[in-house]
Amino acid sequence: MAKFQVVDHPLIQHKLTIIRDKNTSTKQFREVTNEIAMLMAYEITRDLPLEDVEIETPLVKSVQKQIAGKKLAIIPILRAGLGMVDGMVDLIPAARIGHIGLYRDEDTLEAVEYFAKFPQDISERRLFVVDPMLATGSSAIAALDLLTSKYNVQPENITFVCLVSAPEGVKAFQETYPDVDLYTAALDERLNEHGYILPGLGDAGDRIFGTK
Ligand code: URA
Repeated sequence: MAKFQVVDHPLIQHKLTIIRDKNTSTKQFREVTNEIAMLMAYEITRDLPLEDVEIETPLVKSVQKQIAGKKLAIIPILRAGLGMVDGMVDLIPAARIGHIGLYRDEDTLEAVEYFAKFPQDISERRLFVVDPMLATGSSAIAALDLLTSKYNVQPENITFVCLVSAPEGVKAFQETYPDVDLYTAALDERLNEHGYILPGLGDAGDRIFGTK
């Protein structure tokens, strides 16, 4: 079984409270969402491999460390995933960015793909697939289905990163993709009858883009 981690750093919990609050403005929601994403990026990259590199400081030659291993890519699930990209890129500036467009059929709650564009060497990269909400799990699973079946990405090379998750979504995700690491900033109580996370933060896309 891959890693499942609730990244409950005090700064993250504090910032989550801000974006959960219905009175938080679109501007602040967007800013704080990116701040949380940046803090999550710090945690999800903790295991990146390092290699030795010889450099010269102003005083001497010295062997130091640099990131090694697979190149990285951030894959936001449109549209809400876009709200996490800037914060993550601040910490991982060399990462390529791919996009998966999925919308949720409001009747079936199933994810329907409408767009996909990735770096050419996607199957050789380590991927961070991002979406603020892991609710039923259907969008996350559909995104991973696409990456693994059509683009030959190995599940071991994928990490899924969300801000708020529901137990139902975590369960579905882990049953379908037991080899994919899953990081969330909060594990909430449950889904309501419309598939929204409780207590949650509402519709993440609407709150990021100010569309409601
Ligand atoms: N998507 C959201 O944006 N919010 C939820 O609570 C569930 C799915």
